[in-house]
Amino acid sequence: MNRVHIPVLAGELIELTAPASGETVVDCTFGAGGHARLIADRIGPSGTLVCIDRDPSAEEHFDDLAREVACETRFLRMDYAEGLALLREERLSADIVYLDLGISSMQVDARERGFSYSYDAPLDMRMDPGQQLDAREIVNTWDERQLAQLFRRLGEDPNSNRIAREIVRRRTRSPIETTGELVAAIEGALPAAVRRSFGGGSPAKRVFQAIRIAVNSELDSLDRALPLAWELLSEHGRLAAISFHSLEDRRVKRFLAERARGCVCPPDFPVCVCGREPEAELISGRAVMPTVGEIADNPRAKSSRLRAARKLREAA
Ligand SMILES: C[S@@+](CC[C@H](N)C(=O)[O-])C[C@H]1O[C@@H](n2cnc3c(N)ncnc32)[C@H](O)[C@@H]1O
Repeated sequence: MNRVHIPVLAGELIELTAPASGETVVDCTFGAGGHARLIADRIGPSGTLVCIDRDPSAEEHFDDLAREVACETRFLRMDYAEGLALLREERLSADIVYLDLGISSMQVDARERGFSYSYDAPLDMRMDPGQQLDAREIVNTWDERQLAQLFRRLGEDPNSNRIAREIVRRRTRSPIETTGELVAAIEGALPAAVRRSFGGGSPAKRVFQAIRIAVNSELDSLDRALPLAWELLSEHGRLAAISFHSLEDRRVKRFLAERARGCVCPPDFPVCVCGREPEAELISGRAVMPTVGEIADNPRAKSSRLRAARKLREAA
């Protein structure tokens, strides 16, 4: 059964972004609309909520939300980087833009979509089923060096070389078609002692993460989206992002820190000559993490990190 996605760090997102009556908000990753509903309640009938998701199944959740909330709503089924570029062309001015990265529980639990190493299913992992590149293509056509690099860079897997070698060895006999066959190749690549070191966890977790990020160009979308989101914000607008692994969180952290940075003169200059003033105020301080209670209620929240900033002024 597909569980409906439980929004993570929802209270914290609302507290930091403080949506107010009549505001315009862009939800870049609508999912089942858990966060969007809370936002809609706060912006009220005079507010506007633009929702983006590249997964067609999110649109069904959006239709329910649009019927039930009072604010003006709109759905864009596309990559959020493209959605934000479109909104910029339309000269939308947003009070809040937020992203809740990664995949939803509905996507993980939809066995046939191949996101999970816990179920045997065709190797797919596409958020947008209309896209051409899928996990099967990566696993069966990328060469050993490319695969090892992928597992190292996007999965931070210390066993990348071994796993890539074993995948290539197996697929020369017959293509790897399913998540079950991929899990078997990953487990087959590891000596028993390494396998045991995972305890209750799966040695396939990092490789699946890496392939999913590559299939959906997740980091590329995030890199393109952050500057666009910032541009859309009005003065005092808020940008917030919830990430689920360090590759995402590092990008968000750097992006916001760069905007919150003032004078860049060398420390031995007696007076500032650069004249640079911060464009942003960090409103999350360090990253906000889920409470023990939230993790107990929703274990998928465990690795989530929320960062947010307020725009101090429009770019000159
Ligand atoms: C973690 S879920 C969001 C859950 C949502 N906040 C809620 O409360 O239900 C992430 C969603 O973002 C979508 N998504 C991820 N990357 C995307 C991208 N680059 N463009 C558009 N949608 C994306 C996924 O399809 C998924 O539905």
